[in-house]
Amino acid sequence: MALTAYDLGDRAAFVTGAASGIGRAGALLLAEAGAVVHCADRDEVGLDETRALITKAGGTAYVHPLDVADRAQVKAALAAAGPVHVVAAIAGVMHTSSVLDTDDVDLDRVLAVNFRGVLHTCQEAARTMIAHGIRGSLVTMASGAVDSARPGLFCYSVSKAAVVQLTKTLASELGPYGIRVNAVAPGWVRTPMTDQHASAQQEQIESMMMRLSPLGTLGRPEDVAHAVLHLAADASSFTTGQILRPNGGVAMPW
Ligand SMILES: NC(=O)c1ccc[n+]([C@@H]2O[C@H](COP(=O)([O-])OP(=O)(O)OC[C@H]3O[C@@H](n4cnc5c(N)ncnc54)[C@H](O)[C@@H]3O)[C@@H](O)[C@H]2O)c1
Repeated sequence: MALTAYDLGDRAAFVTGAASGIGRAGALLLAEAGAVVHCADRDEVGLDETRALITKAGGTAYVHPLDVADRAQVKAALAAAGPVHVVAAIAGVMHTSSVLDTDDVDLDRVLAVNFRGVLHTCQEAARTMIAHGIRGSLVTMASGAVDSARPGLFCYSVSKAAVVQLTKTLASELGPYGIRVNAVAPGWVRTPMTDQHASAQQEQIESMMMRLSPLGTLGRPEDVAHAVLHLAADASSFTTGQILRPNGGVAMPW
C-alpha cells in the first residue's frame, strides 16, 4: 500500500466475525494493508475459507474458532494470538421482535453476543496492549439501528446502543494509554445476516435504502471494511470515541 498512514505492515490484528460478511471483508482488507490477521468466529468452515482467501491474496492469517459470548474462549484465543495492535470486534447476531414480544432468553442471547462479546474482546485485548505498551486501536461494530427506533428491532438496537456507550467509555479510559476506540455504525448491507432475516422483504428494503440515500446506492461489506481500516490505521490517529457511519448518507425517517 502506498499511503503509509494505512500501512499495517508491522501490526497484528484480531478480527471477530471473520468467517462471513463484513468481518470477512474487514479481515481481507486489514491483511491487504499488511497486517497479520487473526480471524475469530464460531463458524469453523467460514474461518477456513477466509484464511484461504487471505493466503491466496498473499497475506498471513490464523484462525481461532470461538464463541465471543464465552469470555474464557476469547481470552484463550487472544493469548494464542499474542499481543495485537488492532482489534475489530465485528461478530454479531440479528434478532427481530417487538418490546412486548421479547422474552428474557432472546434478550440475554443477543446481548451475550452483540454486547458482551464486544466487551470481552475489547477488555482482554486492551489489558494485553497496556501490559505490552502497545498504542493500539479497537474498532467495535454498532449499527445504524442506534440512530432510530425501528419497530421489531428492540434487542438488536439495545445491544448496539450498548456497544456505542462501551466504545465512548473505553475511549475515555484507554486514551491515556494511547489506545484509541471507535465504532462503525453501518447502514443496510447485504450479507448472510440480512439475507436470513429479511429474505422476504429484501428487495423492498433495498429499494427503500437506495431511495433514502443521497448517493442512491447500496453499501457493500467492502465499504464497511474501509471504515474499519481507517479507524484501525494511523490515518485516524487523532480520532477516538467516535462513531463512523458508512451508510450512504441515509437518515432514517423513523
Ligand atoms: N449487514 C448489515 O446490514 C449490518 C448493518 C449494521 C451492522 N451490522 C453488524 O455487522 C456485523 C457483521 O454482520 P454481517 O452482516 O456481516 O453478518 P454475518 O452473519 O455475515 O456475519 C456475522 C458473523 O458473526 C459470527 N458470529 C455470530 N455469533 C458469534 C459468536 N457468538 N461467536 C463468534 N462468532 C459469532 C457469525 O458466525 C458470522 O460469521 C454484526 O455485528 C452486525 O450486527 C451489519
